[in-house]
Order: sequence, then C-alpha cells, then structure tokens
Amino acid sequence: MFPAERPRRLRRTPALRRLVAETTLSPVDFVAPLFVAEGRDEPRAISALPGHFQHTLSSLHEEVRALHAAGVGGVILFGVPEEKDEFGSGAWDPRGIAQVALRSLRDEFGDDLVVMADLCLDEYTSHGHCGVLRSDGTVDNDATLELYGRTAVAQAEAGAAVVAPSGMMDGQVGAIRTALDDAGFEEIIIMAYAAKYASGLYGPFREAVGVEIANGGDRHGYQQDSRNRREALREARADVEQGADIVMVKPAMTYLDIVSDLRAELDVPLCAYHVSGEYAMVKAAGANGWIDEKAVAIEQLTAVRRAGADFVLTYFAREIAEELGR
Ligand code: PBG
Repeated sequence: MFPAERPRRLRRTPALRRLVAETTLSPVDFVAPLFVAEGRDEPRAISALPGHFQHTLSSLHEEVRALHAAGVGGVILFGVPEEKDEFGSGAWDPRGIAQVALRSLRDEFGDDLVVMADLCLDEYTSHGHCGVLRSDGTVDNDATLELYGRTAVAQAEAGAAVVAPSGMMDGQVGAIRTALDDAGFEEIIIMAYAAKYASGLYGPFREAVGVEIANGGDRHGYQQDSRNRREALREARADVEQGADIVMVKPAMTYLDIVSDLRAELDVPLCAYHVSGEYAMVKAAGANGWIDEKAVAIEQLTAVRRAGADFVLTYFAREIAEELGR
C-alpha cells in the first residue's frame, strides 16, 4: 500500500517550498538594538556581542545608515552614560546621551525608520537596579513610576517615535501614558516589555551597558519567574488596558509558548526580543565551527515569527537583513 498523503510533493523544489511557506521573514521584521556611549572618541567593541559596539554619535549614524539601507524596520536605542547616580537622573536629562543621540538620529532619518528608546533606569543608576531604592535596598515601585514619566517625556521631546519601558514596575504603562499625554505627546507609541522574565540570558547586555547590580543583587523581585506561564497573560493584558500599543515577550527562544499565548489572546501588535545571550550563544557556537550560525539565526528568527510575533528585536538585524537581501 502506498501512503495516501504525500506531503513531500510540496517540498520538491525551492519555488514550491517558498510558495506554500506559512511564515515569512524579511528585514522589515527586525528592530536592531544599538548602544551609544557618552564621551567616547572611538566605538568600543563589546566582546560578548561580536559585531556590536558602544557607539560614538558618528559610528551610530553610520550603523543606522547601513541598517536603513538593508531595509530593517527600526532601531532601539540604549544610552551608556559617563556618570551614574542613585536616581538614574541621566535617563531624563535633556543633555543625557540617549536624548542627544535621539535628537541627532531624528535630524538625519526623520520618520524613514522607526526610532525607539528603551525606557529604564538601570543604565543610569549607581546600584544597577531598574528603579529607585528604599532604605532597605528594595525597589520602590511608585517612586520609580514618576521617574519613568519624566524619562518618557524627555525621550519624546528628543524625537523618539516609540518609548519602550523595560523596568517591569507595576503600573508603568499607565504612568507613562499619562505623562506623555499631559505633555502633549499623544502620538508617541508605547511598546511595553509586557512579559519580561528574570533571565540568565541578559549577561552580554550588561557588559554592553556597563551595568552591575550592587551587592550581587538580581531582578527577581520585579521581572517574571520563568516557571510561570499564565502570569504573562495577566501582565500583558494589564499593559494593554493601561494603553500599551505594542507588547513584547522577552527573551524569545525560551518563551515561545508565551509568544503563542499572547498572539492567541491579544489583538495588538506583538514582538519578541531575541536577547543578548541568545545571540551570543549562536555566535559562540558558530565561531567554534559547531553550527552554521546564519542558518541557525534564520531558523530561530523564523521560529519567533511562527510562534506569532509580528517583529523581532535582534542583534542579528543587520547581518541577517543583508543575508536575506542577497
Ligand atoms: C533593562 C534591560 C535589559 C535588557 C534590555 N533592557 C537588562 C535587564 O533587564 O537586566 C536586556 C537585553 C538583552 O539582553 O539583550 N533596561
């Protein structure tokens, strides 16, 4: 007896496979995370993120030009300040490095590609936490909200089209929406890091932004517990109710079930962050000749799309966009 079903018919040629593919992956689906450092003359390579740099303003512009030429959908900016303090005041300083860079990108690129600003305090606080601390060393949620509001307004004034709160404080989206609207920035989009897990995969990022959490601390008191799945939906629904325009799941590969759940339950645009550790693992195995890194990168980014994300924040943005464009 021959099998009645012959799925292999549809796999016979590249043209057939392309025609029946359920998922697409193209440069416009990528948002590139970029780091810009204050007071630096030369870009500095980030060893745990091969191909990535703490940029100067001018190397940042060059990189964004290349990303734009490759058709990438957007960029998300992280500032690396020279000085940090207890409150993270560099985050909302109009002369702070992120604001300087946003203004400068706005001047060159206008609305030609989507410029996003990560909105958090950890790059700017001396203790490395995402919010301000109480005297007992725990993060004060509500005092932090006010500072997030100020930061959002500073980023909007500097020309960010999207602000992306990543600190996982309760009520952060609502507080930021109110602050933006009160300042006349009704059009600024909020992309919420809605389901952000306390993950071991952020290591290379901390090198990239020079963040070390004081006293061997961690973020388990505000980021989500990787054992929890339903909780992600509660977090994301709360963000949408508070006015999030786009929601994110982070990290990506270890949380594809969450991406799939949120896709099924919510009707707002959804993205996932393929984080620094995910990139570093592929790069390291590739450098050892253990895997074909481009093939694995495309497979992983496709998986994120297949799970239901509309777009992906990824350190592979430029490399894979250029590869797809060949
Ligand atoms: C917090 C923030 C982090 C990342 C993005 N925003 C680090 C953290 O939560 O500790 C990590 C991104 C990555 O690993 O690529 N501002």
